[in-house]
Amino acid sequence: MKKERSSFTSRLGFVLAAAGSAVGLGNLWRFPYLAAKYGGGTFLLVYIILAITFGFTLMIAEIAIGRNTRLSCIGAYRKLDQRFGFLGWLASLVPVIITPYYCVIGGWVVKYLVEFVTGNGLQAAGDSYFASFTAAQLPGVFNSPVIWFVLYVLLNAVVVLFGVEKGIEKVSRVMMPVLVILSIVIAGYSLTIPGAMDGLKYYLLPRMEDFSIFTVLAAMGQLFYSMSLAMGIMITYGSYMQKDNILEHSVTQIEVFDTGFALLAGLMIIPAMVAFSGGDTALVRESAGAGLMFGVLPKVFESMMFGGVIGTIFFLLVLLAALTSSISLTETIVSILVDKLHIGRKPATVGVLLGVLLLGLLSCLGYGPLSAIQPLGMAFLDFFDFISNSILMPIVAFLTCILVGHVVGPKFIIDEVETSGAFHRKKLFVVMIRWIAPVMLLMILGTEILKFLGVISV
Ligand code: TRP
Repeated sequence: MKKERSSFTSRLGFVLAAAGSAVGLGNLWRFPYLAAKYGGGTFLLVYIILAITFGFTLMIAEIAIGRNTRLSCIGAYRKLDQRFGFLGWLASLVPVIITPYYCVIGGWVVKYLVEFVTGNGLQAAGDSYFASFTAAQLPGVFNSPVIWFVLYVLLNAVVVLFGVEKGIEKVSRVMMPVLVILSIVIAGYSLTIPGAMDGLKYYLLPRMEDFSIFTVLAAMGQLFYSMSLAMGIMITYGSYMQKDNILEHSVTQIEVFDTGFALLAGLMIIPAMVAFSGGDTALVRESAGAGLMFGVLPKVFESMMFGGVIGTIFFLLVLLAALTSSISLTETIVSILVDKLHIGRKPATVGVLLGVLLLGLLSCLGYGPLSAIQPLGMAFLDFFDFISNSILMPIVAFLTCILVGHVVGPKFIIDEVETSGAFHRKKLFVVMIRWIAPVMLLMILGTEILKFLGVISV
């Protein structure tokens, strides 16, 4: 039984849709803090190298699988090989883990937006504000992170339940360029802060001594996260792609756009952070964490002319970028439930949202009231981030490489790519998917497990 699958109507349409879902908190919130933590320029170099080798290989494979099978990930893996059906389920688990904590961070964004709208934004630039807020230590109901998390989930719910995501996506498509321009302005201003030049050096110049396997690990996890790889999403996008779309071009465009956005976010935040810490990069590495964007940017706005207004616009745009991503994350889970459990869309959506609320609550309270519970020694949010990015995604990526490289064979992907145009990086693709990528992924997973067991330390 074959249902007619709708397609993206234009080539640009595909790229914009894929890039729109790829660009989100991963670029703005996650990338800068990881780059600051893992050696600035060293991280940047590793990230870019991985993006054009690893990221390219995995993304083109996933999109080609989707376009060939015309199925979303659970069915697609099974169609390629019966024995790999479980891989679709494993990949689908990733959005289930990510979505709840994504909404917690979305809630932080709403809170900062409201602070700026009500003229308190510059107060939020205080040193301990972020820590006190996320630890639920600020007095008053409206200072509880739970309220903002719930509000964000409701916003997300309204969009998904009423099916207005097309509207949101149109708005955000128009607003994205505004976010790029505003980010360039903010980055330009950041660089004028006394001491920022040292920060720029830290961010752009690689230093050998900063390199370790953990840099690679963090960069790879971030790559998967930011480009929505190793979680079945790109397979689904590929299944909607038209046959005449030149695959290699589209992949390159998505990669350039997504990486460019991340680099820009780092440029706004890292030099300013180094400047604020008096040029002490050791301190920067130590203190960089989930709160980086929220801690540094209000300080930048504080010293800017019209900082209150710029902060308001900025957080509004970040909210839009986050919403488009969390909407498609929610949709992914909903469509799996609808397909596999044969339940209606409404009950599935309500179920997913309740699950998000419940699981998200753990992440939301993990820095405060629940901080006594530390799975694997981490706060809940960091724990969920770690399990999905450092464990599940490398496993899914590894098995995908084995499936494509050794079970169905790279020719399957090459043929699909070549139905619509040339495959210039074919050799690179074959070597990567068969040998380099799986070996690296195994090394990385091994390191991760040894770290866990306490055999090695960071
Ligand atoms: N890539 C998105 C970001 O950078 C986050 C994300 C992960 C995502 N998986 C996704 C978005 C699936 C949409 C669909 O923020």
